[in-house]
Amino acid sequence: MEHITATAVAHPNIALIKYWGNLDDEWNIPANSSLSMTLGELSTQVRLIADEQLDRDLLVMDGYTAPPGAQERVSQFLDQMRRLSGKNFFCRIESRSNFPRGSGIASSAAAFAALALASAKVFGLSTDPQELSRLARLGSGSACRSIFGGFVEWIGGQDHQSSYAVPIAPPQHWNLVDCVAVISTTHKAVSSREGHRLANTSPLQICRVQSAPQRLETCRRAILERDFEQLARVVELDSNLMHSVMMTSCPPLFYWKAETLVVMENVRQWRTQGEAVCYTIDAGPNVHVLTLSDHAEQVKEKLIQIDGVQEVIVAPAGDGAIFVESG
Ligand code: DP6
Repeated sequence: MEHITATAVAHPNIALIKYWGNLDDEWNIPANSSLSMTLGELSTQVRLIADEQLDRDLLVMDGYTAPPGAQERVSQFLDQMRRLSGKNFFCRIESRSNFPRGSGIASSAAAFAALALASAKVFGLSTDPQELSRLARLGSGSACRSIFGGFVEWIGGQDHQSSYAVPIAPPQHWNLVDCVAVISTTHKAVSSREGHRLANTSPLQICRVQSAPQRLETCRRAILERDFEQLARVVELDSNLMHSVMMTSCPPLFYWKAETLVVMENVRQWRTQGEAVCYTIDAGPNVHVLTLSDHAEQVKEKLIQIDGVQEVIVAPAGDGAIFVESG
């Protein structure tokens, strides 16, 4: 055994150009490349303890034994590590997050990025960032982007080897901030994993996927040139397209609530009044409102006044996954 225990920390990310639908569901090879910002200040720590006495993996989340679905997902991920390393021991996995689950911030991306790093140490696999990104992808597609900090592109690729994330600009490059307007914290009825499987049942998915490279290029340019107007247009368009696919899948997926639309309308109106704001929404009702750090307090104040907004969580661009300790 390389290490008996390893601890790693990673951050969630918000997709500016979305991943929705796979070429290959088993390996999480996406239908299109995507682009995200890693979120600082919000983090998940994962401690992995290899234990030759265990006869199965045991996941403990925030001090409690995790529900069977989460246990199974993590165990399936560790099966891949066992297969790749040829080592057959089971592990205790302790995960802690400093942000609420179900807050509209994808906790699985941070968790699987941290788990990929910790398990690479424990199973003696490569800790090269590109390789870690591939490993993290096996747990949760979007987790491959959380290996890196700042602004990150996931090159979709065709197979396991060619599908991984690369950083395009460090966190200090731009003072973009994500203000998450939390509308509901109840668990989503249909998981992203199930949603990806339904994407091709929408007649709009082909069109979304075919035009995604162009949006990704526009988004990349907007980030590199720190052009908020251009970013706002392409980020909202891309989010609207993903939700159009969701709503026209079979069965249809409606993740929005009435309040989601109210926040979207307000954000659009504030922008016509000259404010640097735009929205993007993942597989849930909560709205990620992007702005620049000088406006974040003001945007937070305005969001919290909207009926139905329970809380606003503010996160700037943050760092990639880091290794904390081993033993
Ligand atoms: C809508 O399969 O990565 O957030 O359920 O958290 O594992 P998890 O999600 P994942 O799908 C993410 C879908 C998305 C868009 C995105 O992050 O690109």
